[in-house]
Amino acid sequence: MLLSGEFHPWRLPVPSLWLDIFQKIKALGFSATSFYVHWALLEGEPGVYRADGAFDLAPFFEAAAEAGIYLLARPGPYIQAESFGGGFPGWIERMTGSLRTNDSGFLDSFHTYYSNTTSVISKFQISNGGPVILLQPENEYSVSQSDFEPTYMQYIMDEARSNGIVVPFISNDAGPYGNDAPGSGVGAVDVYGHDYYPLGFSCSNPDNWTAFTFPDNFYQLHESQSPTTPYSLVEFQGGSMDGWGGSGFDGCAQMVGTEAERLWYKNNVAAGASFFSIYMIYGGTNWGNVGYPNGYTSYDYGAAITEARTVDRDKYSELKLLGNFLKVSPTYLDVQPSNNTISVANTTDISVSPLTGRTSNSSFWVIRHSDYTSTDNTSYTITFPTSNGTVNLPQLGGALSLLGRDSKILVTDYPLGNINLLYSTAELFTWKEFSEYTVVVLYGDIGEHEELAIGLSNPNITVLEGDSSTIRYQYAGNQTILSWDITGSRLLVKAGNIYFFLLDRSSAYNFWVPQLVTSETTHNYTSDTTVASSIVLSAGYMVRTARLQGDELHIAADFNATTTVEIFGAPASANSLYINGQKQQFTKDSQGFWTTTVIFEMPNFILPDLTQLHWFSIDSLPELQSSYNDSGWTDAILSSTSNVDYGLSTPKSLFSSDYGYHVGFLLYRGYFTANGQETQLNLTTQGGSVFETAVWINDTFVGSYQQNSPYLLSLPTLQSGSTYVITIVIETLGIEEGSRAPRGVIDYSLDGGHSQSDISWKLTGNLGGEQYIDLARGPLNEGGLYAERQGLHLPSPPVNDSTYSWGNSTPFNGIESAGIGFWTAQLPLDLPSGYDIPLSFQFDEGSISGGEYRAQLYVNGFQFGKYAPSVGPQTTFPVPQGILNYNGDNWLAISIFAYNSSGGCLNTLKLVNNTVAISPIVVELADQPVYTKRANAY
Ligand code: GAL
Repeated sequence: MLLSGEFHPWRLPVPSLWLDIFQKIKALGFSATSFYVHWALLEGEPGVYRADGAFDLAPFFEAAAEAGIYLLARPGPYIQAESFGGGFPGWIERMTGSLRTNDSGFLDSFHTYYSNTTSVISKFQISNGGPVILLQPENEYSVSQSDFEPTYMQYIMDEARSNGIVVPFISNDAGPYGNDAPGSGVGAVDVYGHDYYPLGFSCSNPDNWTAFTFPDNFYQLHESQSPTTPYSLVEFQGGSMDGWGGSGFDGCAQMVGTEAERLWYKNNVAAGASFFSIYMIYGGTNWGNVGYPNGYTSYDYGAAITEARTVDRDKYSELKLLGNFLKVSPTYLDVQPSNNTISVANTTDISVSPLTGRTSNSSFWVIRHSDYTSTDNTSYTITFPTSNGTVNLPQLGGALSLLGRDSKILVTDYPLGNINLLYSTAELFTWKEFSEYTVVVLYGDIGEHEELAIGLSNPNITVLEGDSSTIRYQYAGNQTILSWDITGSRLLVKAGNIYFFLLDRSSAYNFWVPQLVTSETTHNYTSDTTVASSIVLSAGYMVRTARLQGDELHIAADFNATTTVEIFGAPASANSLYINGQKQQFTKDSQGFWTTTVIFEMPNFILPDLTQLHWFSIDSLPELQSSYNDSGWTDAILSSTSNVDYGLSTPKSLFSSDYGYHVGFLLYRGYFTANGQETQLNLTTQGGSVFETAVWINDTFVGSYQQNSPYLLSLPTLQSGSTYVITIVIETLGIEEGSRAPRGVIDYSLDGGHSQSDISWKLTGNLGGEQYIDLARGPLNEGGLYAERQGLHLPSPPVNDSTYSWGNSTPFNGIESAGIGFWTAQLPLDLPSGYDIPLSFQFDEGSISGGEYRAQLYVNGFQFGKYAPSVGPQTTFPVPQGILNYNGDNWLAISIFAYNSSGGCLNTLKLVNNTVAISPIVVELADQPVYTKRANAY
């Protein structure tokens, strides 16, 4: 059983935080993570593979290993992932050969990337003691049956094998069409898998489920497609993407929230999934232009772990209930699934999918409303076969209930070590057989009545906690039946040697089951359920690890409130307790349970008022000045394009990719001699989705437009015989996934009898183009703004250098006419250690205000936000510790591209914190080189 979640290291460019995410995944009871590798980030310059700084994969593998997480590597070359080019570098636009086919031009183009990446991955395979257990070639390759080219799939796999990949190949079919299933010859992977996004990608009406699909044939499909391999859901919806102008990720978190997790995820369990990966489990950030044109900076995805790395969404806790249950339920792997529902309840409103034991009696029953959208509270009784005959539940009277949008996995003949749990109508969170006793944690919702039967005859029963009046029990031969009501206060019942914790759902959310690492433990991967492999805690916000070191029990955990920590199953040899390295007093009760309290006090810290920083300002569109020297710019002299998918409409190519510019701001300068007859410039530009274009003639602002091209711009009266320069600024938003769609100026015409060739063009993007300067922050972080080309967005910019005419305005003054302003300021931080204090930069008090400008936010040189107040929806931009130096100086920079004659300014910008927790995480600064003078910068 592999329970997995997707997480992209390149969307969290702080390697020392990767362990944090892996531990949060591991704490769900999950055993694996899947990850994409992004080609465009590793081969910005064709033929040169670079994995500097945060792009090095080795620390990612090491962090996974430390957390005990297996990995599915997904190096593409095509990945999609709402990312720049879908993984393809911009220079793919100059390569011949149809993309994602067997054309040699395309195959050759990814050889450098793929051979280097798979060689690195191969070193970290399980066969070499590493965490990598599977590799996925391509992604959703069989998007339609007709596109599928087996020899291309085979080529990728052969490349991987020749670079040392020995682990099995798994596919991520989009269909599920099943045409790359094992056994079907060339291009067939070892394990067939597919993805599924049944809730779609519109988060504006999260509770309206009527349009969603609820698959009820997945098991049958699997049997027809790939009966000999484990049923693998390589991606299953864990949230949603959201686009410019969208409704925001909170809606996505709600849409794929606790109810959807229960209904859809448990339906996947009903279909017998044994590799089940959630996309995304942690989304992260489209920092530095890694996103695709339709997406904004946040890639939070509404995932279980928020972009700010917090675990305060209930959907995280709900997933933890399911993950931990499956982790301790090995008999699930021995069941006969069936998507067919059966009528074993006394009402047709309730449907049951059986998972019946093959070689044992141990069976699972997935209960839901027959109409999965139903919000009814339904009372029912139910009949199950058991090793002790047919039982009609509840046996001791009353009724069961399913409250609203819920689904439950009930168990029959479930082995708790040597004791048989004949059935339970409450769901199981975990159980552990310790040397002295067994702990069983069950939960349901407040208002429900529950019942279980256990194979113990006449055990001693004591109610140790809670209202005993709601508890009934009865001995029935070799069984003991126990029933209770869930009221919201915890019940602890001891029956024989078993402690039953009978919880309501939110108390269960506080329980954690870290694996116990001892000095004998060589690795932490196992999900084995043998004696005392884990301990059970009730501890609130987040428990990371448990370790036995001699007679010391060490717990690493995060606390966002004063918390009573209870430890069940502390090893007999332990006699002292350390939490986050600090010795902790504790009490031990007569059961042997440990209790202590961790005091949380909100630490004292002051987040600087950003309006009060010492800002340095500069004009970042000096190109408008007549004195500006553009001799360093690239002349647009190519009479043809290398782009085999798109033809030219201009005498010289103005496709930026023909000149090596692919990302962020592109600038064009077109020179011509006027004849006085000009009235209009007709311009077609392309920058993806809601890109913005603004145009000047000499220093006169001509106009701007968002997205819709061709666009007619009215010109001022021009002087016949004079030379003019048209300056075009295009803020591009990335390249569409799997596409060669060009960026830049696509077409133009100037009236007054001019031919296109009357204008001669120059262009620029980021300094150096594909020979990009900043290796640590990679090939996509910088665009072509003057300030970026000069490196002024980097830490410690030359604010005393008189070659730049620094002013002292602030981004709150902004600029008063159309143009581009740039500001930088030192931002000292002094935050207390021992805490995780996620920070975000918040524009406009967190609500979109409108405004005819686009802003970019840079933190220590990393572009961590594109704010578009006229489009939205994002106003709050998380920036991780490690990009921010929490104890020292930071440099903050802002660019404002005002595309309206009245200019633009920030209304407000604030540094705000997210959930603060006491935390043992150790965060090191990501590699962040400071400013150095750039030779030949223009
Ligand atoms: C899948 C694809 C992922 C991602 C997802 C939507 O089809 O494999 O890469 O794009 O859709 O978020």
